[in-house]
Amino acid sequence: MAVLKIVRMGHPVLTRPAKPVSDPSSPEIQRLIADMIETLKNERAVGLAAPQVHVPLRLVVFHVPPSRIADEEGAEPQPLTVLINPAVEPDGEERETQREACLSLPGLSGQVPRYKRVRYRGTAPDGAPIERTASGFHARVLQHECDHLDGILYLMRMDDLSTLSFDTEFGGMETL
Ligand code: NI
Repeated sequence: MAVLKIVRMGHPVLTRPAKPVSDPSSPEIQRLIADMIETLKNERAVGLAAPQVHVPLRLVVFHVPPSRIADEEGAEPQPLTVLINPAVEPDGEERETQREACLSLPGLSGQVPRYKRVRYRGTAPDGAPIERTASGFHARVLQHECDHLDGILYLMRMDDLSTLSFDTEFGGMETL
């Protein structure tokens, strides 16, 4: 396993739609997954999408730690999840705005509106289908990571750029 280099905003791979993974069981994809997990842990991040490590494929890894949802009623922590070819759709129209950060925009965070509840599905590394509903931070992580697969960075979702802050001015937070 290897820690991969994170691509930063400005590299074209971050603003192009990624391609579907045709064979999740291939050795190349299994190695990519192992390396992305290693990279996520090394960065102490919550989520990582393949384009962020210079691979234009539809694959994300994420988890929802208990500490991040302590004040969300009914929210369940999510174990480290690898989601291949994910599809995410809103479950209702309700939105909420919270601060996000991203490994590809180091040192920055900003307030981003997201759907409060989503449904998502995809494929696990062993080929098993994954289908879940999510709310709150879990839903936010999913929307943020799946946006990466469509070439969208959280900045592009912000409706108030005045909330964009450097960590040195605002205080750090977990990255998505
Ligand atoms: Ni990100």
